[in-house]
Amino acid sequence: MSINRRQMLAGAACATTGSLVFSPSVRADDFSERRRLQLPKLLDAQTTGRFGLTARHGAVKFTGQATSKTYGFNQDYLGPTLRIANGAVQAKIQNTLNEVITVHWHGLLLPGVQDGGPHQEIAQGESWQPQLDVSQAPSTAWYHTHIHEHTARQVYQGLAGAIQVTDGRDRDRGLPDVYGENDLLLVLQDKRLDDAGRVSYRPHMMDLMHGFVGDQIFVNGQTDGLAVVPRGIVRLRLLNASNARIFSLFLEDGRPMHLIATEGGYISKPLAIQQLRLSPGERAEVLVDFGGKGSTSLMSTEDANPGSGGMMMGRMSRMIDAFRDRSFVVLPFSVDDRLKSPIDRLPDQIDSAMPALDGKGVKQRRISLDMPMGPGMMHGGMGAGFAINGRPFNMERIDFIVAKGSVERWIVESSILAHPFHIHGAYFQVLSENGGTPRIENRGWKDTVLVDRQVEILIRFDHAAGERKPFMFHCHILEHEDAGMMGQFSVT
Ligand code: C2O
Ligand code: CU
Ligand code: CU
Repeated sequence: MSINRRQMLAGAACATTGSLVFSPSVRADDFSERRRLQLPKLLDAQTTGRFGLTARHGAVKFTGQATSKTYGFNQDYLGPTLRIANGAVQAKIQNTLNEVITVHWHGLLLPGVQDGGPHQEIAQGESWQPQLDVSQAPSTAWYHTHIHEHTARQVYQGLAGAIQVTDGRDRDRGLPDVYGENDLLLVLQDKRLDDAGRVSYRPHMMDLMHGFVGDQIFVNGQTDGLAVVPRGIVRLRLLNASNARIFSLFLEDGRPMHLIATEGGYISKPLAIQQLRLSPGERAEVLVDFGGKGSTSLMSTEDANPGSGGMMMGRMSRMIDAFRDRSFVVLPFSVDDRLKSPIDRLPDQIDSAMPALDGKGVKQRRISLDMPMGPGMMHGGMGAGFAINGRPFNMERIDFIVAKGSVERWIVESSILAHPFHIHGAYFQVLSENGGTPRIENRGWKDTVLVDRQVEILIRFDHAAGERKPFMFHCHILEHEDAGMMGQFSVT
């Protein structure tokens, strides 16, 4: 389908629902024009204990037509996949862009001075050389820029990449571990293209309200990827690095995915899951069996984030959704029998069971993720009303102090829309979602969770952060974060 036709469809969706619902292309089953999916280059620092990232300008022809101006680390768009092991890892980040950036290690449990949040600016032409004291379970994390009020645009332009923390024992666990063969990193994003086929970021006011959602799906920076896989068990490391799109992933022929890891690492045994909801900032690892039934496609249903708040456009788009199938292809897979498959069965056991945190008598906090509501929101001016507990983000204000080594219970509530809630420097367990049992994908250690009304979490704070380099907590819809739905705390 041509881009223009696709844009027309998106435009039509927009007109019928009266909201900014951007539906990527409808189900396409002709994949003959797709190219093989590329993975970001693997930068293996497991044995060297050091790596370098250079933030630079890039130029990419995403659609084979016009060239888009992008940002990337060591490459035109996005960055290499960093593979690191526990111990001291020496990083060197150079900024050759014309603007200040940071590099935050989302999912690495590090002290505040190494965390790379908004206070850790790397000016134009400067470099930052932190030693990262890595000490955590194997997991998929990521890195991205985090400049207050500019995170959304800078990430959209490409300043993000994936991290794999490894202990080198995945083969013993019976897990696929050959990067790009049976262990596939999938960086999920969405973008809007202008008439010439260039990526553009020109958010309207409604985009700032909902978060900027695109009408084309990008996997590892590619719009037309086709993943070639062996006939066996394949591991997908899913990272939602889009600004605002919430994916509800499933396989087209109805076969299950098998969840093996959440953000904080492995769960005890594979859990079959039919539909996996992944909001911005979240990661999940799943195994897919390509042995019996062969090729299939990773799909998603449209998630317009209508939220719970009775917003007119939300109600309308849900009514329209009920009458049509709004699912779309994220990535087709093609089985190639010439590829050898080292893993042919699901492991029974991966890790020991997650120890339940003791939440008795712990400090409790209520966190409300506020956004402007009512008719006033249309006229309230840009960013007015985005806040946490009524207070918009302020770099100069520490919102609270947490005791190092403590566990806290937070009750996080969303307003109007669903908001992915992220905490720096700590992992948590989800106790309940809207008073009920957490969804399957939320039953392991997490650092980001989608709050669609109310989520109750238990957090363990083991890493220190002082007042000058505090930890952030925020909505990971990047437009919301930039508009003030963020706070900061120290851990002492
Ligand atoms: Cu992924 Cu504070 O961010
Ligand atoms: Cu983070
Ligand atoms: Cu939000």
